[in-house]
Amino acid sequence: MYTQSFSVQDDPAQKAVKQVGSTEPAELMAKFDACIDGDGRIEPQDWMPEAYRKTLVRQISQHAHSEIVGMLPEGNWISRAPSLKRKAILIAKVQDEGGHGLYLYSAAETLGTSREQMLDGLHSGKAKYSSIFNYPTLNWADVGVIGWLVDGAAIMNQIPLCRCSYGPYARAMVRVCKEESFHQRQGYEALLVMVRGSQAQKDMVQDAVNRYWWKCLAMFGPPDSDSPHSAQGMRWGIKRISNDDLRQKFVDATVPQARVLGVTLPDPDLAWNEERGHHDYGQIDWDEFWATVNGNGPCNKERLATRVKAHEDGQWVRDAAMAYARKQQQRSTKEAA
Ligand code: 3HC
Repeated sequence: MYTQSFSVQDDPAQKAVKQVGSTEPAELMAKFDACIDGDGRIEPQDWMPEAYRKTLVRQISQHAHSEIVGMLPEGNWISRAPSLKRKAILIAKVQDEGGHGLYLYSAAETLGTSREQMLDGLHSGKAKYSSIFNYPTLNWADVGVIGWLVDGAAIMNQIPLCRCSYGPYARAMVRVCKEESFHQRQGYEALLVMVRGSQAQKDMVQDAVNRYWWKCLAMFGPPDSDSPHSAQGMRWGIKRISNDDLRQKFVDATVPQARVLGVTLPDPDLAWNEERGHHDYGQIDWDEFWATVNGNGPCNKERLATRVKAHEDGQWVRDAAMAYARKQQQRSTKEAA
């Protein structure tokens, strides 16, 4: 459903926006700019301006936190999945999300920030993670809708990141996108089964779509005009497509999928605009989005508390792994002596 074909060529005008007021060494900066302009990749050992490093750590760590916190709303349904098949699929999916978080923390670590620092940011409530995971999963259809719409939105945003200028992030995203594609399809297939079932099942799907639709549109971030990081992120080839353009692509791709499912997207202003060649859609509630991003969504406190508890409960596993690694190290030093 979602493929690399959603990625598009960059607008050459983006490259012309140079960083203003930089105090970085001119020669190194020129080499870095040339690499970015030539669509090359920056690797961990390469020189990079501090602002580029900081932006990447911010984005990649927020992304990693989103994957890890994103395990929670669906994880709640593993014990209540309606069949063994659905349970096995859901366990695999939630496990994949954990894996995505780990690739991403590793990518961010190559920029010189430790995993402990990143986790401290998450656990203390300082670091952001995706707004979408602060909403409850009230019924089984929510699990399908998260696959279809939330993972669908995530893929739309992440396919362009496979071409991110920072090598380790781009490479991690190639694998993440392949797995996300499976997540999206399993969600859509689960919903297809439900809409062919009883009226109660169809109603459940519509209810889940009604609650998640607007939150998924907001996932792409604030409008371009209110997005403080977009211009620089695009200039550096970190972001390749703007928040609004990705949101529009998502709407255009999702409308026909909703039609096949037989569900209504809860927006009276949603209509095909012949002139633009895109769907028009209504107003997103940005006040609600910012309240959620800033810690006051319906489940923020619960999500964070669950994460902190899981981290503390897992301390013995990390201690045991470290003790084992030390023992192995001592043994190999002894053998080498
Ligand atoms: N939720 C929470 N915060 C958000 C947000 C969202 N949906 N959208 C934007 N923000 C935050 C930004 O992080 C930034 O905060 P900061 O200044 O404190 O760091 C602020 O709002 C301004 O937004 P900008 O548009 O200027 O920020 P960016 O240029 O970084 O763009 C982004 C935001 C599009 C989310 C970009 O960071 C990005 O593409 N990130 C990588 C992908 C990602 O993190 N996806 C999250 C979902 S992952 C997922 O869903 C898991 C999957 O398994 C389902």
